[in-house]
Amino acid sequence: MKIRFAGQELPRSGAAVAGIWEDCVPSAVVRRLDEATDGAITRALAGAARFNGKKGELLPIVAPARLPLSRIVLTGLGKPEQANSRVFEELGGAVAAHLNSAGESEVTIIVDRVEGVPAAIADAAAAVAFGAQLRSYRFDRYKTKEKPEKKPSLAQLTIMSDAPSAAQRAYNLLEKAVEAIAFTRDLVSEPGNVIYPETLAAEARTLEQFGVEVEVLDEPAMRELGMGALLGVAQGSARAPQLVVMQWRGAGDRQSAPLAFIGKGVTFDTGGISIKPAAGMGEMKWDMAGSAVVIGLMRLLAARQAKVNAVGVVGLVENMPSGTAQRPGDIVTSMSGQTIEVLNTDAEGRLVLADAMWYCQDRFKPQFMIDLATLTGAIIVALGHHHAGLYANDEQLAARLIEAGRAVGEELWRMPLAEAYDRDIDSDAADVKNIGGGRAAGSIVAAQFLQRFVNNVPWAHLDIAGMAWSSKDAPTVPKGATAFGVRLLDRFVATYYEKDR
Ligand code: BES
Ligand code: MN
Ligand code: ZN
Repeated sequence: MKIRFAGQELPRSGAAVAGIWEDCVPSAVVRRLDEATDGAITRALAGAARFNGKKGELLPIVAPARLPLSRIVLTGLGKPEQANSRVFEELGGAVAAHLNSAGESEVTIIVDRVEGVPAAIADAAAAVAFGAQLRSYRFDRYKTKEKPEKKPSLAQLTIMSDAPSAAQRAYNLLEKAVEAIAFTRDLVSEPGNVIYPETLAAEARTLEQFGVEVEVLDEPAMRELGMGALLGVAQGSARAPQLVVMQWRGAGDRQSAPLAFIGKGVTFDTGGISIKPAAGMGEMKWDMAGSAVVIGLMRLLAARQAKVNAVGVVGLVENMPSGTAQRPGDIVTSMSGQTIEVLNTDAEGRLVLADAMWYCQDRFKPQFMIDLATLTGAIIVALGHHHAGLYANDEQLAARLIEAGRAVGEELWRMPLAEAYDRDIDSDAADVKNIGGGRAAGSIVAAQFLQRFVNNVPWAHLDIAGMAWSSKDAPTVPKGATAFGVRLLDRFVATYYEKDR
């Protein structure tokens, strides 16, 4: 979809969209549009009893009088005093979805200044375009027989405002986020026969074009480093494991301690010998979402030339049952030196992260470390699909992450860490075991396991199992892969670590 920013004038072709604030008189531009159509808007507002400008409401007026427009769509914006960039993103998203299914190819969205709305008009216009692009994402690479009328129809989106060139400048930055998020969603959506450790590492290598330094450690290199926990998971698969290290140096001082992001990249999780039930197992193609988010984030930081040093480390493996697979009861030695009794081969993400995290802090001495993982089904039981679980050993880090998530609509909920939970993973035979004694507090127990591999550094863990994939459409996130975490962490970096730019 092509995006264009223009000044305020009467739209003269395709569909036109105008926002209506809750219980407010229409803005000046909307009143002009109303006059130009012999009062079509006034009549529609009077006739539609249930439309009063609440956020998310849509009121289509098909073939309005006099103007050569296919339709005018009035959209509710909610209360002016509650307006923020999310409102405008969601407007763009909702309109894109509506017009794509209506078969419109060209749309003009009018963004008008309103008394009492603090948001800068250029930012609002850019946010509308951003939301429309995010919602228009589709993974349709493998649909070879789709009928044209089922395909999204929008080709051209024009945003009209009083500040088109400032809006274009604001959008240029957001467009890099659109691209990084689409890239991440593609990686998460691809099936396990296409994306496996070597091909995912190759995708990470494409970040070199943005100035990211990419290194790929193969199995012998990981063996040399003593990564017995990660390699134990990989040993049942015919696909070789990979550890990818991505470095972006954008800070004034290129040697200053980096921010570190670590991702779980299980390209397919069968459960291994502790095999999962057949129903729904196909979902486990997205058990690499944590790694895809880290790769997408690194791409975005580099593409927008973020003024920080950042490192991304992703552990890529496939968890398969086979004659060479790890057995329940096996004891492996991690890079940290701690031995792990693997009592359930389906609790594999924590094993991969144990070595990836240890390697990252050992080599880079980061300011802090944040890991993302589709780690447990238990976090879905606890929080459903509305918050990711947040665990942290540092109050400031936790507060900053929660705040960044709230600002972009990727919400986190803090979960506890405590000694009492940690007792649950003491092993009779080794230093630690990879599962607790029962089903209680499964997500917390997994976080406690990770914490055993945190060596005196501020650390946060995001359990994104409930957020990486969505079964229904949301205003700026179509169903499927969400890329949850890319926007959150980009905002987190921009707000708290780029102050000196
Ligand atoms: N990848 C799964 C967690 C998961 C489940 C993600 C459902 C998304 C949707 C993880 O590797 C796993 O299998 N965890 C087990 C841990 C258990 C064996 C302690 C789980 O949650 O059941
Ligand atoms: Mn598993
Ligand atoms: Zn898993």
